Amino acid sequence: MQVHELPRRPNPNLDHIPGDYGLPVIGHTFGLLRNSHKVGKRMLDTYGPVFRSSALFQRSVGLVGPEAARFVLLDGEQNFAAEPAWNLIIGGLFEGGLLLKDFSDHRFHRRALQHAFKKPVLGAYCTSLNRYLAEGIGTWPVNSYFDLFPRLKGLLLENAIQSFFGEDPHCNIQELSRAFIAMLDATLTLVRKPLPGSKWRRGMAGREVIKAYLKDQIQLRKNNPGNDFLSSLCVASDEAGQLTDDDIIDHMIFLLFAAHDTTTSTLSSATRILCRHPEWQERLQREFTGVQGEHLSMEDFTALPELDWFFKEVLRMHPPVPGITRRTVKELEFGGYTLPANTSVLVSIRLMHYLPEHWIKPEEFDPERFSPERAEHKRDSFQWLPFGGGAHKCLGLHFAEMQTKVFLFQLLRRFSVSLQPGHVPKIRAVPLEMPKNGLRIALAPV
Ligand code: HEM
Repeated sequence: MQVHELPRRPNPNLDHIPGDYGLPVIGHTFGLLRNSHKVGKRMLDTYGPVFRSSALFQRSVGLVGPEAARFVLLDGEQNFAAEPAWNLIIGGLFEGGLLLKDFSDHRFHRRALQHAFKKPVLGAYCTSLNRYLAEGIGTWPVNSYFDLFPRLKGLLLENAIQSFFGEDPHCNIQELSRAFIAMLDATLTLVRKPLPGSKWRRGMAGREVIKAYLKDQIQLRKNNPGNDFLSSLCVASDEAGQLTDDDIIDHMIFLLFAAHDTTTSTLSSATRILCRHPEWQERLQREFTGVQGEHLSMEDFTALPELDWFFKEVLRMHPPVPGITRRTVKELEFGGYTLPANTSVLVSIRLMHYLPEHWIKPEEFDPERFSPERAEHKRDSFQWLPFGGGAHKCLGLHFAEMQTKVFLFQLLRRFSVSLQPGHVPKIRAVPLEMPKNGLRIALAPV
């Protein structure tokens, strides 16, 4: 079957696979929203690494473990399509995004985008990133408790708009941020129709605001490129005669989406863990004393191994994208079961990051598991997968690493962080892991 021939809804006939669909109609939706890890763990323990389930009005097969991840994500025979799977979640709003493309079409667009993500190009963004983050953190209260989450979210969004679209003195960052937030809100609504006053309608209107802004900017960037993603994309696509202006707009809007919540989630988790483990604040602060000057460059990374273990352990314990979804293009066999054509599959990244056969005491925070002496993540190249793998592996992983490390450097160089006594951080697990009650912290100068 060709990807475009797959019906919009996935195949519901999965009764031959062990598992359960939960309650009639709603399936495991409530459990998933309350504690997706617990539901997944119960399914894994009860039924094994291949199980059927149902949530958000869709039946699917859960797959757990490096072998399953390799089977779905490496996919040399083009058996798994991303577009029909992700379309149910982000279609319409993020039309034309890279994750909504498959096979040769995807390869063509990914090649065109890759230029903007090469390490030397990223190095150029690093300087402005240090400046934005240092200035932003500098506006936060000192020695008094505040909710980190809304401030962090705002800072990262403004920072992303500046580094992705370029520093434009006429840019109304607040207006673009509002438009983008409306799009994010719309991804969470079940009613995907532009009814008056609906979130969906506001989200689609937000998309039009960003589109109109980018349309004007593309010509400017082609004539006068700067150190930003939009310029890199314009230059690269002009040189190769590849992408239309509409393609560039679609890609830029999707990039903003792919980057924003994922990095907000990572930095929230990192800060929460630092509050719980002050010994790691001290270790990182000690390591940072070896950095010359007030900016962290990509060249500095190799001299900061503990920062790298910390970054990797945060993403192991709290992968922002908890699972990767695909649709089977044809009937397949895996783990002794038949997966019919048009089956929705979900590779659980989070469950894999806690498998005791792959990680020593997986429930414990222990960054040293990533040290060269222990290197637990190297037991299998597919057991640590916060950025996915194969054809759709995260294009922004170096950017995400750079942003996280620069943020930690700019924060801990000047402050120690602590949770407000009595504040118990609550976490929303899906669609991405995020603080639910603000993450109340204080900064104390070091
Ligand atoms: C810690 C932060 C991040 C995490 C954990 C993350 C995770 C992921 C994952 C798991 C995928 C694969 C999805 C799939 O295979 O279905 C992905 C794809 C992608 N990510 Fe990220 N991401 C992060 C940050 C970013 C950033 C900062 C950018 C852009 C600057 C970005 C751009 C993309 C793009 C364009 C894709 C689609 C790639 C393709 O379809 O070929 N991501 N990301």
